[in-house]
Amino acid sequence: MDISKLTILAIESSCDDTGVAVLKGDKVLSNLVANQEIHARYGGVVPELASRAHLSNITPTVDLAISDAGISPEEIDAVAYTIGPGLSGSLLVGASFAKAWAWARRIPTVPVHHMRAHVLAHFISPGPPPEFPFLCLTVSGGHTQMIHVHSPSNMEVIGATLDDAAGEAFDKVAKLIGLPYPGGPLIDKYAALGNPEAFSFSKSKVVGLDMSFSGLKTQVLRFLQSQLSQDPAFIDNNLHDFCASVQSAIVTMLITKLELAVKTTGIKQVAIAGGVSANSGLRKALTEKESLPEDPWQVFIPPMGYCTDNAAMVGIVGAFDAANKKFGSLSDTPKPRMPDLNS
Ligand code: KG4
Ligand code: ZN
Repeated sequence: MDISKLTILAIESSCDDTGVAVLKGDKVLSNLVANQEIHARYGGVVPELASRAHLSNITPTVDLAISDAGISPEEIDAVAYTIGPGLSGSLLVGASFAKAWAWARRIPTVPVHHMRAHVLAHFISPGPPPEFPFLCLTVSGGHTQMIHVHSPSNMEVIGATLDDAAGEAFDKVAKLIGLPYPGGPLIDKYAALGNPEAFSFSKSKVVGLDMSFSGLKTQVLRFLQSQLSQDPAFIDNNLHDFCASVQSAIVTMLITKLELAVKTTGIKQVAIAGGVSANSGLRKALTEKESLPEDPWQVFIPPMGYCTDNAAMVGIVGAFDAANKKFGSLSDTPKPRMPDLNS
């Protein structure tokens, strides 16, 4: 079936933001995110508070998304929702709402793997989308995966972090210098005015396509302890240079692994996805690969709104799967861990 005929209501509630979107095929009619500011003061997401906020946000956000889309609820053909991975309480709110809403209207549900949704966000109109097969480096707060994308339903993880995710590395370093959660976007902001070569941090030595970011956090902690013992105002005096140097270390590690993945697979269509794909250092480094004098890459960078968690990406997976009649059932339950991207 042609996906352009399908109208999908999509719900994303895997972590701390309640996302709701309405798509007609690959076109986004509305895409809303109810942010949960409350976690910033705790330095990270508090799962119980996240579930409660989802509960109070979900009904008004769904109503608003449908009215913003300019359609009536009767026009919706299926409800797509994130089934995992993520926080179990948060997932439970989205899954229960989606199943109940769909059941009441006798329409099917489509349970969606969150990381698969990040990858397929590249297929949201206007594109242009990559052609299969392509490589996708998915970098978020919970995952860092190098994926060989054979088709919308066949994704092979060919490398992954052995410890912290790239977004987690940004957030942990930000926390060390007293920035609120999530610190990734703030490091990016301060890095823009700094010198990336001011301080040097060694890169992880993991061989192959796997990655590691936990060593960077420890290295930065020791570095800060030593600097602060000499200059208690070190952070204030060097904020921009420090952020630029940390960002450069993380981006270099990611680009090095992408270079190896391109070499190993021979695939030159390279995409990034997930929250860290909003990082301006990573976007710039990747864009430079398009103008390599020899063997340039064809690079795919999502628009900002589709990098961090959003429901439009869940909706495009919903459209693909609904077109193939791949539906869920009322007995589907949230899966906080989902190692298989194709499950
Ligand atoms: O994909 P996402 O919204 O949620 C998860 O599925 O985890 O990713 C969130 C992560 C956080 O770690 C956040 O700090 C990071 O993405 N992030 C950034 C930027 N924007 C979001 N990291 C670096 N630079 C950014 N501009
Ligand atoms: Zn995500």
